[in-house]
Amino acid sequence: MARCCSRATSRFAGLNRTSTESSSSLLLWCLCLLVVSAAEAGLYTASDQIILLTPENVDAVLVNSSAAVVVEFYASWCGHCIAFSPSYKSLARDIKEWKPAVDLAAIDCSVEPNGKICFRFGVKGYPTIKFFHAYSKRESPGQAFKVSSREVRGLRQTIIDNLETNKEPWPPACPPLEPASQEEVDTFFETNNVEHLALIFENSKSYIGREVTLDLLQYENIAVRRVLSTEKGLVTKLGVTEFPSCYLYHAGGNFTRLKVHIEARSFYSYALERLPGVVRSGKPRPVPPEVLRNNTDEPWRPFNSSRVYMADLESTLHYSLRVELAAHPVIRAEGLVALKNYISVLAKFFPGRPVIMNLLRSVDSWLQNQTGSELSHAALREVVDNNNSAQSPDAALPEGVKWVGCQGSKPYFRQYPCGMWTLFHVLTVQAKTSGSLEPQEVLRALRGYVHSFFGCRQCAEHFNNMARESLREVKTLDMAVTWLWSRHNRVNNRLAGALSEDPYFPKIQWPSPQMCRDCHTVKTNGDHGWNNTQVLSFLQSYFSSGSILTDYLDDESQVLEKQMEKHASQKLALEAQRRAERKAREVLEAVMQSPPSQPPEEEEEEEEEEGAQEEEEGGEGAAPVDRLGAKTPEPAPWAKPEMDLGRGQRRGRRKASIVGMRMRDQQEDIVDLDSFISEHYKAKAMRGASAASTWVKHRTLQRKEEPDAGLVFGLGMELDAGVGMVGLQPVDPDLDLDLGQRTRWLQKRGLAGQHSNDNAEKRLSAQSHTGSWMSMLSIGFSKVDISLCVILYFLSSMCLLFMYLFFKNRLRPRRVKVPLP
Ligand SMILES: Cc1cc2nc3c(=O)[nH]c(=O)nc-3n(C[C@H](O)[C@H](O)[C@H](O)COP(=O)(O)OP(=O)(O)OC[C@H]3O[C@@H](n4cnc5c(N)ncnc54)[C@H](O)[C@@H]3O)c2cc1C
Ligand SMILES: *[C@@H]1O[C@H](CO)[C@@H](O)[C@H](O)[C@H]1NC(C)=O
Ligand SMILES: *[C@@H]1O[C@H](CO)[C@@H](O)[C@H](O)[C@H]1NC(C)=O
Ligand SMILES: *[C@@H]1O[C@H](CO)[C@@H](O)[C@H](O)[C@H]1NC(C)=O
Repeated sequence: MARCCSRATSRFAGLNRTSTESSSSLLLWCLCLLVVSAAEAGLYTASDQIILLTPENVDAVLVNSSAAVVVEFYASWCGHCIAFSPSYKSLARDIKEWKPAVDLAAIDCSVEPNGKICFRFGVKGYPTIKFFHAYSKRESPGQAFKVSSREVRGLRQTIIDNLETNKEPWPPACPPLEPASQEEVDTFFETNNVEHLALIFENSKSYIGREVTLDLLQYENIAVRRVLSTEKGLVTKLGVTEFPSCYLYHAGGNFTRLKVHIEARSFYSYALERLPGVVRSGKPRPVPPEVLRNNTDEPWRPFNSSRVYMADLESTLHYSLRVELAAHPVIRAEGLVALKNYISVLAKFFPGRPVIMNLLRSVDSWLQNQTGSELSHAALREVVDNNNSAQSPDAALPEGVKWVGCQGSKPYFRQYPCGMWTLFHVLTVQAKTSGSLEPQEVLRALRGYVHSFFGCRQCAEHFNNMARESLREVKTLDMAVTWLWSRHNRVNNRLAGALSEDPYFPKIQWPSPQMCRDCHTVKTNGDHGWNNTQVLSFLQSYFSSGSILTDYLDDESQVLEKQMEKHASQKLALEAQRRAERKAREVLEAVMQSPPSQPPEEEEEEEEEEGAQEEEEGGEGAAPVDRLGAKTPEPAPWAKPEMDLGRGQRRGRRKASIVGMRMRDQQEDIVDLDSFISEHYKAKAMRGASAASTWVKHRTLQRKEEPDAGLVFGLGMELDAGVGMVGLQPVDPDLDLDLGQRTRWLQKRGLAGQHSNDNAEKRLSAQSHTGSWMSMLSIGFSKVDISLCVILYFLSSMCLLFMYLFFKNRLRPRRVKVPLP
């Protein structure tokens, strides 16, 4: 609790340090987190896809619900409950697709406020499981649910038995589960508008037909019916000899047998979900890739979806090191350790091209030499960009992203998180092939990175939960590979059908039987099982360095050339800037040396006043924050620089004379704008997060079935977008300004203060404009004004000399006369 509070505080401290309003909202936050952590103190968490019941939501969940609900009443201290909880969690994953018809819930009766609910439902011992039919009344005590074993299969079948006892009204979401007759099949297409009818022939005791029916509940354009082996007419018509077996029945009376490796539930479900035209409800129909090609902003790059592409991995590195990390201007403590481990693992195991490996190694050795307690991202960026390329020639990391296997059908699908997963798998497999000495080395480094930096905070939390739960069980390099694979599948299970799922790349339990037939088996009880040895060898070949495709990559000499060009242009820009600065200084010096032109007294005083005032504001350090926070609760993105610019303009107009441009003014501008920029990004990220939460609310209302997934996605996407914003500016080559350069650029901006611009982007790109202004200034003054000054100065001194000689001459005869008698 205390930890949660301090975490919340530190997260918000940067925004508003003094406001009492914010401290009360902080309190609220802590309360919120308290409730959450209380709910999560039990045996289940929100990511288990189990509804956590509380006195507040119990009626909303159980009374008059359109889905049946299975509720486990437990006490967190009870040993049986603890032993049963993994089965209940597996059950939740296993029947995730059944959600519209049946949902799982749990309540911790040992939490005091929950006690009265358990009492209300007459719970005496733990765990007690009850089944609540759809449209239950408030006074319904629930139906006893017999648990014969901890086996998921038994639990699943008991749920089906209970579903079948449903009385009218039959829940709309629940498909018919009773066996189909020949008559129904014959007239099926007259009354139903679907493309496929799958018939599962089986014995009356088999549950497969009903299980597959429920598995495909959320898919459109397909209906599944069970047909009993006793339905002689159909059995002879289709010539069915094997039970179970699955046939696709077409409108004209044609039929084909569904080809599967093993006649079992999971194989049927995998195959039926992938039939042409079958889509998850509410998702658009997949279209051929040619249409996608016109859908996305970038040209679509055709790819083989069962291959790994180096372009994705390099894009991931670019995004991670240049964009995601840039959200952390100063990296310290835990984050610094995480960063060092991450880079070290990359330098060791990334199967990159020589140029990229050189870069990763140089970043790694540089990082290992950093003994300070903190590190600025700007410094890291210098090394990642190899700005001192004399030290490590032939080293570069290509700039920008070019997604191939991780392309999404929309700009907000897939991409970076997809690349991240791919990178993780590749690293674990490489660690195995090249023989890492420490089985958990890679996984721990990845966990650290995700925990400290991964932009999707919810993802990080989920990943950390999984790691905390079972990472310690990883004892070999093989286990590290399969651990990551199985956790990734857990995430896939949770996210299947969520808003973040790209309809063109549905989340499946990976790899599908089409990709690796032998990875799948059935256990003796008929349930799906993975053949772990097969999976391991599949992963090892799929993610091996030898099978990574290098399509769409610039070759290494091009990468180096681009980097050199960039360095050269950076150098040119720098020199141009220095030259401009030197000229400006010369002008100033020349003007200072010329005879004082006596500017109007009052104006000088006024300026001094303003300068003093500004100094005061600047001296407070955090002034821009306070000003932003106090004056405008929700600052417009560029409000601050416009304010600044306004002032600059004012000043510029008033001080048309060059004397007005003093170095001190520039310094103040630098301080202001720099701190503004960092504040602006913070504000933007915060706004992104709040926008995300309102958006999430909106979407979760639309799709009640998956509030958790929706939330997770929303935050993830929007935060990612936020991070993207932070990163986008540095990525653009035009705007590519490291800290030092930005300062220099700002100095220029300060000198050309009167140059007006309506927004900061323009101002950024107006860099070159500013440059020409500078040269105009210097030409104007040095070549015309200064020579005029000199001439005038010369003329006036000649004049003085002439007068002096003249009077001297006139005095002399007089002086001569005086002594004359
Ligand atoms: C550490 C981490 C945690 C995340 N947690 C969340 C979260 O909590 N909520 C959320 O909304 N999003 C989360 N994401 C994002 C989400 O998992 C996906 O990455 C994202 O939705 C893009 O999905 P995708 O379809 O491109 O496939 P991804 O799941 O990103 O997979 C990428 C590719 O890896 C391959 N693959 C798929 N499954 C496996 C597997 N089991 N083993 C090996 N290879 C596989 C496939 O070829 C696939 O195309 C997380 C991402 C990461 C990296
Ligand atoms: C239960 O829900 C149905 C539709 O979902 C609605 O028509 C009915 O009025 C509800 N009954 C009660 C008692 O809330
Ligand atoms: C995509 O665009 C090209 C031209 O830009 C056009 O010829 C083609 O028909 C379009 N394809 C689809 C499917 O719209
Ligand atoms: C994609 O890659 C797989 C595995 O290497 C291969 O079997 C398949 O033929 C490839 N598909 C295409 C369209 O190239």
